[in-house]
Amino acid sequence: MPPSSFYGQSLACIILAAGMGTRMVSRLPKVLHPVAGRPLIGWLLETVQDLSPEKIIVVSGPDKTALESAIPPSAILAVQSDRKGTGDAVRSALPDLKDFSGDVLILMGDAPFISRETLDRLLTLRRKTGAALAVAAVEDGDPSGYGRMILDAGGFLNRIVEDKDCTPEEKKTRLWNPGLYCVDGARLGEWIGRIDTANAQGEYYLTDLPKIASADNAKTAVLICDKADEFTGINTREHLARAEKTIQKKLRRSAMAGGATLVDPKTVYLSWDTKIGQDVTIGPHVVFGPGVEIADGAEILPFCHIEGAKIGPGARIGPFARLRRGTVLEDDVHIGNFVEVKNATIGAGAKAGHLTYIGDAQIGARSNIGAGPSPAITTGSTSTTVSTSTKRPLARAANVCVAFSSDLAIGAETHCRPECDSSLVATVSATYSATNNLAEHTERCTSFSISFPMQSFGHQDHP
Ligand code: UD1
Ligand code: CA
Repeated sequence: MPPSSFYGQSLACIILAAGMGTRMVSRLPKVLHPVAGRPLIGWLLETVQDLSPEKIIVVSGPDKTALESAIPPSAILAVQSDRKGTGDAVRSALPDLKDFSGDVLILMGDAPFISRETLDRLLTLRRKTGAALAVAAVEDGDPSGYGRMILDAGGFLNRIVEDKDCTPEEKKTRLWNPGLYCVDGARLGEWIGRIDTANAQGEYYLTDLPKIASADNAKTAVLICDKADEFTGINTREHLARAEKTIQKKLRRSAMAGGATLVDPKTVYLSWDTKIGQDVTIGPHVVFGPGVEIADGAEILPFCHIEGAKIGPGARIGPFARLRRGTVLEDDVHIGNFVEVKNATIGAGAKAGHLTYIGDAQIGARSNIGAGPSPAITTGSTSTTVSTSTKRPLARAANVCVAFSSDLAIGAETHCRPECDSSLVATVSATYSATNNLAEHTERCTSFSISFPMQSFGHQDHP
C-alpha cells in the first residue's frame, strides 16, 4: 500500500464520534459498543492509522473520558460540547486543523468497517480529478435510513438529501451516502461555516457540503462503490448484531484459511484478535473473548468459553471448559469438562480432567488435578504455587483460602509435605493415586485438611 505522501498531499483524518447514539438506547457512547470484542472506533482507527496520516482527530462528546482509553496517544481528541449535527462535529475539529491545506478525510465513527482499499481509491480520485470534494456513494443494498445522493444529468453530484428530508421521488434513489468524504483542507473551514440548520432535524448537516461546493463552482467527484457491507452504519442494536454477523463470518473464514478446522463454523464466535495456529480443531459452540492465542495442534472441544488465555501446542480443552484472563497452558495440557481456570499457569502435560476451579496458581508439569479441589483461591497478594510434578511440595501458599466440599483426588507423582496447621477452613475426604507419596498415610488418614493462612496442604491423622 502506498504511504500517504504518495498522494502528493499531506493527509488529516477526522472521525466523528460525538453522537450518543440515541437509537442504541444506551448510556455507552455508540462508538464504544463492541463488535467481535473490539469497540467500533477501534476497527476504524486501525484502518485509518494504516494510512499514516499527519493527524487523526477524533470528535468526542463532552464526556471525553469515555473515549480517551479507546484512542491511540497519537490521535487528537476534539470535543463537540453540544451535539448539533455532523457539520457541527467537523467544526469542532477545525481548531486542530489550523493552516492545514492537505487532504482531509472525514469518516463516521459508527461506520467502522470501511476498507483501506476504499480510502485509497477515494484519495486517489480526488488527487487525479483535482476535485475540491470527493465523496463515496454506494449503489448496493438497502438505502433506507441513509442520505440519498442526487446526481445531475451529467452524472455529477448535485446534493445529498437526508432520509428524513427526502420527497417521495428522492426516496426512490438507490444511490446512498456512506458518510465518507475527502475535502480540500484549504476550503473545509469556510464551507463548514456556511452550513445552516434549515432541515427536518434542525441540525448542521455535513451532507450540505456538495451543495455548498456546487454553489462555489468547485469541482466535485463521486466514487461509486458496489459492495454495501463495508459501509454499513450502526445506529441500532439490530445493526450492531448484523455487523457482528458479518465480521464473524470474515474471522471464521480467515481462521480456516490459516489452517484451523472449525467443525461447525457458524457456532464459533471469535474475537478480533484471536490468534489460531495450524491444525487447531475447534468444536461447535465455542466462544472466544479478547486476548486468546492458540498454538498449533491444540483441540478445543465443544461448549468452551475462552478469553485472555494462551493455549500451548497440543493442548486439549473441554468440552464445557472456561478459561479466563491470565491463563497460560503449556504444551499438551488437558483441561476437561466443568473446569474453570483464571490467572494460572499450568505446566506441560498437566491435567485437570473435571469439575475444578484453578485460580491464581502455578501447577507443575504432569500434575493431575482431580475433581472438586480448588487448589488456589488467593485472598491476599501472594499467589499460590501448586507443583505436583516431582518430589516438590504440593502447595506452598500464603494467604490462601481454599473452600470445597467434594472429594479431593491427588494425582500420581505427588509429594505432599505432611504438615498441618491450625485454623482449619475445610475438611474433605481424600483419595490418593497409588503412586503418590501420600499413599503411605492412607490407612491412617481419612481426612485431609487445609489450613488458613496456610503454609502447605497438610494431612490430619485419623484419631
Ligand atoms: C449520517 C449522514 C447520512 C449517511 C449516514 C451514513 C448526516 C447529516 N447524515 O447519518 O447522510 O447516510 O451518516 O452512515 O451527516 N456525530 C457527531 N456529532 C453530532 C452528530 C453525529 O459526532 O452532533 C457522529 C456520530 O457519533 C456518528 C456520525 O457522526 O458516528 C454519524 O451520525 P449519525 O447521527 O449516526 O448520522 P446518520 O443519521 O447515520
Ligand atoms: Ca449513523
